[in-house]
Amino acid sequence: MIKIANSPEEINFNGEGIALVTLAGKQICIIRNGDNYYACSATCPHASGDLAKGYIDVLGNIVCPVHQYKFNLKNGRHTGGEPYFLKTYQVQNQKDGIFLII
Ligand code: FES
Repeated sequence: MIKIANSPEEINFNGEGIALVTLAGKQICIIRNGDNYYACSATCPHASGDLAKGYIDVLGNIVCPVHQYKFNLKNGRHTGGEPYFLKTYQVQNQKDGIFLII
C-alpha cells in the first residue's frame, strides 16, 4: 500500500479528473469520478497511448486519446470485448490519506 496524498485536494487532477503520478517506478493515472477514485496504468494496452491525456466517459470508463478504446476502471477490460486488459489498482480514501493498493 502506497500513500498517494494526505487528501484528494493535494492531487493535481486535470479537467477530466485524471492525475498522472509516478509510484514505485510506474506511471499511474489516478482518476476521480464523483466520490469514487480509481487507478490504472498510464499506458494503454492497445498501442501504448497516454491515458493521462484521455477522458472519462459518462459510464465511468477511461477513454484512450489515440484510438478511443474504452476500458472499465474496475476490472481493466476493454468495453468492446477485445482482448486488451488495462492494469488497474484499488484506491482507498481513508481519514489519513489516499492510498494505492499495489
Ligand atoms: S493506443 Fe490506446 S486505443 Fe490505441
